[in-house]
Amino acid sequence: MCGIVGMISYRKVSSLLLEAIKKLEYRGYDSVGMACLHEGSLEIRKDIGKIADVDSKVDFTSMEGTSGLAHSRWSTHGAATKINAHPHSNMEKSISLVHNGIIENHHELREMLVKKGYQFSSQTDTEVIVHLIDSYYRGDLREAVSLALKKIDGSYSIGLLCSQHPDILIAARKDSPLIIGIGKKENFIASDVPAILSYTKKVIYLENEEIAVVKRDSAQVFDLDGKERKKEVHMIKWSTEKAEKRGYDHFMLKEIYEQPDVISETVEGRIGDESIDLSSEMKMSAADIKGIKRIIIVACGTSWHAGLIGEFMIEELAKIPVEVEYASEFRYRDPILERETLVVAISQSGETADTLAAIREAKKKKAKILSIVNVVGSSIARESDMVLYTKAGPEIGVASTKAFTSQLVVLYLMTVYIGAVNGSIVTDQVKNRVRDIRLIPMQIRSILEEADHVELHAKKFFTKENALYLGRGINYPIALEGALKLKEVSYIHAEGYPAAEMKHGPIALIDKNMPVVVVATQDNRTYKKVLSNIQEVKARGGVVIAIETKGDTETKKYVDHNIYVPKNSYILSPLLASIPLQLFAYYIALLRKHDPDMPKNLAKSVTVE
Ligand code: AGP
Repeated sequence: MCGIVGMISYRKVSSLLLEAIKKLEYRGYDSVGMACLHEGSLEIRKDIGKIADVDSKVDFTSMEGTSGLAHSRWSTHGAATKINAHPHSNMEKSISLVHNGIIENHHELREMLVKKGYQFSSQTDTEVIVHLIDSYYRGDLREAVSLALKKIDGSYSIGLLCSQHPDILIAARKDSPLIIGIGKKENFIASDVPAILSYTKKVIYLENEEIAVVKRDSAQVFDLDGKERKKEVHMIKWSTEKAEKRGYDHFMLKEIYEQPDVISETVEGRIGDESIDLSSEMKMSAADIKGIKRIIIVACGTSWHAGLIGEFMIEELAKIPVEVEYASEFRYRDPILERETLVVAISQSGETADTLAAIREAKKKKAKILSIVNVVGSSIARESDMVLYTKAGPEIGVASTKAFTSQLVVLYLMTVYIGAVNGSIVTDQVKNRVRDIRLIPMQIRSILEEADHVELHAKKFFTKENALYLGRGINYPIALEGALKLKEVSYIHAEGYPAAEMKHGPIALIDKNMPVVVVATQDNRTYKKVLSNIQEVKARGGVVIAIETKGDTETKKYVDHNIYVPKNSYILSPLLASIPLQLFAYYIALLRKHDPDMPKNLAKSVTVE
């Protein structure tokens, strides 16, 4: 939700912190603030708004000091005001603290601290932490932080500076991501890797309830009882430029265009000429795979849509019954899980609190957890028994695009692999499935070459206030995803529906002002039925934009606007149909003068329940 960066160095840090926090703006952008420690005192500058606007007002880079913290906020407790912006301080202004997460018992703690004479200046839950640390401080900063964190219920990642300890930066986490970056004569903390990639590629992942004491030349990690823990230093393989816009106007567009390469990378090393092998990643014996009786997919948002498509793939090809659950609902309904149930968690960020809670619930019930995750070393990846990484590289745009299609690719590889092992897919069919997925990068490239055509359609519809998206079978979740993309970045109200459901209610909304986007790609199952659904819309004066298969001469007889995608198998058709819908949403957002990378009210990584 919020972005945290901290740095303790031999050089002035304010401009470095500013650059770093800009890379985390996707996590929250209600307000931004910075604290720098210089000549024994902490200076804080902060205000509401996006980083560039606040910087032009407060001039962060003129702040002196060789250690500092920066924070970009996505508000949970307390409105987006200057006073609620981070960093927060104790009453003497000797401690500055930034926080991501939610303190669930902040009311009780606040009352207790007020009785002790502490005065609060903000409405945030965060301010409780800084006063609590102050109340325990007797000269040992790490100990005071540990004692305070033991009193806290909820999630946190924090960074903290204290004017009495100019040589240390403290960091801690629970259920909210935080990493330590190891540099030369300087060290860092950050919510996410892209923030510090230009300074170092060496990273330590903090685990839950660990505290780091970070100095210019060392970083030690302790548990809350003060016992030191040995930590592994990981080398990050992402290049800095991979996390930048690379000449595109927006991350969303860059990420849409990266999809052919991302998909090649996702399949790389997992498919041979005629086979798919995930044995080293899935770590399940053939007997265990054959023993899977049921799969439950848990996910949120776009990842949940990928799960719905996964359900079609798995049931059809691997012949295992699948249920797809909103992660946020799953944990609260006492799910029944047998030993033969495989729980598959899908998450781009690997930090989504609801999905993390769902896998913890499943683990309590002894189910095996396999996660499909993009961010290496993220909480969901670390808490799963097995991980299939989507290898999409950093996704910065808040609206998920390349992470979604790479999730579909991994679900497909997993399905074919399981189906081959359990005997539902015969060798010849595996060969055909491998051939089909190999075609996808080239086919997506050909769709992207016609982006101008999608932009023309966007120009016709950007003034509308509502839209309906329809699809059937495996492309029904694409209707949901297309509608979600549009509402996320353009703020147009859009609904996705199974095309046949339309006549049970939404048909009442159809008129010339309600554009209806229909996924009408050719297959031998529902295509003809979709054509009938299109005619139902047309009969009521609706305007239809159809995603059609190249070469289809039938659909265009009935629809007003055509967007073409190449033909692939039914099972892979959602991968192709989703691309023009991503572009459509992107161009409409631009035409409506919205920043598609930072949709209002949304955060990239939703680490609160
Ligand atoms: C996607 O465009 C959304 N921003 C959102 O629905 C997202 O997919 C959801 O929050 C789940 O995130 P995750 O994949 O990181 O778990």
